[in-house]
Amino acid sequence: MADKFYVTTPIYYVNDIPHIGHAYTTIAADVAARYQRMMGKSVWFLTGTDEHGQKIFKTAQDKGIDTQAFVDSIVTRFKDAWKKLDVRYDDFIRTTEPRHEKVVQAIFHKLKQQGDIYKGEYEGWYCVACETFWGEAQMTEDLEGRFLCPDCGRPTDKLKEESYFFKLSKYQEKLIAHINQHPDFIQPVSRRNEVISFIKEGLKDLSVTRTAFPWGVKLPDDPKHVVYVWFDALINYISALGYPDGEKFKEFWPAEVHLMGKEIVRFHAVTWPAMLLALGVPLPKMVFGHGWWTVEGKKMSKTTGNVVDPLKLADEYGVDAVRYFILREVPFGTDGDFSLKSFIERFNADLANDLGNLLSRTLTMVEKYNKSQIPNSKNQTSSNELKDLINKTPQLVDQYMNKLAFSEALGAIWGLISRANQYIEQQAPWALAKKGETEKLTEVLFDLCETLRIVAILVGPFMPATAQKIWAQLNLPQPLEKLTPVPFGMPIAGTMVKKGPALFPRLNK
Ligand code: ME8
Ligand code: MG
Repeated sequence: MADKFYVTTPIYYVNDIPHIGHAYTTIAADVAARYQRMMGKSVWFLTGTDEHGQKIFKTAQDKGIDTQAFVDSIVTRFKDAWKKLDVRYDDFIRTTEPRHEKVVQAIFHKLKQQGDIYKGEYEGWYCVACETFWGEAQMTEDLEGRFLCPDCGRPTDKLKEESYFFKLSKYQEKLIAHINQHPDFIQPVSRRNEVISFIKEGLKDLSVTRTAFPWGVKLPDDPKHVVYVWFDALINYISALGYPDGEKFKEFWPAEVHLMGKEIVRFHAVTWPAMLLALGVPLPKMVFGHGWWTVEGKKMSKTTGNVVDPLKLADEYGVDAVRYFILREVPFGTDGDFSLKSFIERFNADLANDLGNLLSRTLTMVEKYNKSQIPNSKNQTSSNELKDLINKTPQLVDQYMNKLAFSEALGAIWGLISRANQYIEQQAPWALAKKGETEKLTEVLFDLCETLRIVAILVGPFMPATAQKIWAQLNLPQPLEKLTPVPFGMPIAGTMVKKGPALFPRLNK
């Protein structure tokens, strides 16, 4: 990847408060951003909210609240959630902001001027929940003869209204060519194959305005039309950078990666690139569609009442445990199932036992056998398996992080942690102390402290608070934020450790 890194999440609909699914994508983006920043890249991380469209308009109407007041109240919930979950974005875009609306209007105007948008009439079907147009051929009928949305299964509405259309069909061949020439453009591969077959079925021009409700970006020269919510929303990725002339746009576009759930890959890998091709703007480097979380085997839904609130979970078990679990449990790209049982199992096994014990055992031994001082190992160049792993792990993590393989990156870090725990058993520092083998003993203690230093750096993007706690207990003078993994032998010897409370007290549940 280049030395700049622009990462985005979807902008979330504000008809609903944030849940574990939104937290998943946003934490993943945060971890990627923190990691690349640590590696010295110039990073921009954008998230935000999608506030227009029929669904949100209807939700506010049903509640009897003014639409703007309603969306404002939900946006606060999203911002508070990200703050609480230690998500450090660089910008938060709202589609109701003037800086966004004016870019949508300008783009619409430009595409209309150049003949890529034309006026016609839309006759067909619409799913309000998915904000998606469907043709009859794409749907199935239920027993009452209603056409059902292929994505969510709800009955669709019949529409017949004047509409502007974007010439999506014109870009079919160019899109296929781009996808073929850029194997990484759509990830993971299964998503790429789905998109290719979708395009090959033939792209139809897309209705890009609605007249049935007023909640959207208005066309200044035809104000009964509002821009279709997806056409409006996708533009956030460049409006937030100040397209077309903004400094941030010049610096950060094209995005290294747009992150999202698999259900909206099509909009990002077909509609959005076609819009960019029409505008003559470079395409994002990668569109990554991760998997979907179910809860105890079931789809999350308000009606079922099984929606997992990441804030409640964080209150009970800590922010870092939540961040760790969701990125560790399943490979990014694969569907995952959330259950409290697996959460607690992982908490106890990986966090309390492996990581927590490595820190507390090591510091206890440094206190006991070396008067709390990280010893000066005289034998720093000698090679053993642990030292090799200390050296190799940062490179391994780097390879995984550049592929957004979060779970594998954590797996590599935990490989080092487990090896260090084994090393304690094998070297038995208590026995070395008894036998008076001081040189060997100090070497072992040094190796363990060095492992913890590397681990603190590497877990930092995933668990920022935990990394700080490890660092504080090692009592290292350099500020953690300023470090990248440096090889074995950075001077840590001589520091007086400050053993603190357990990082992750075991859960008895
Ligand atoms: O689609 N598992 O917004 P949205 C994993 N506004 N991820 C999940 C999830 C789950 N169960 N549920 C939600 C929209 N997500 C549009 C996007 S972008 C220009 C416009 C995450 O509020 C995942 O990232 O429905 C998914 O793509 C997104 O939330 C959908 O959020
Ligand atoms: Mg959705």
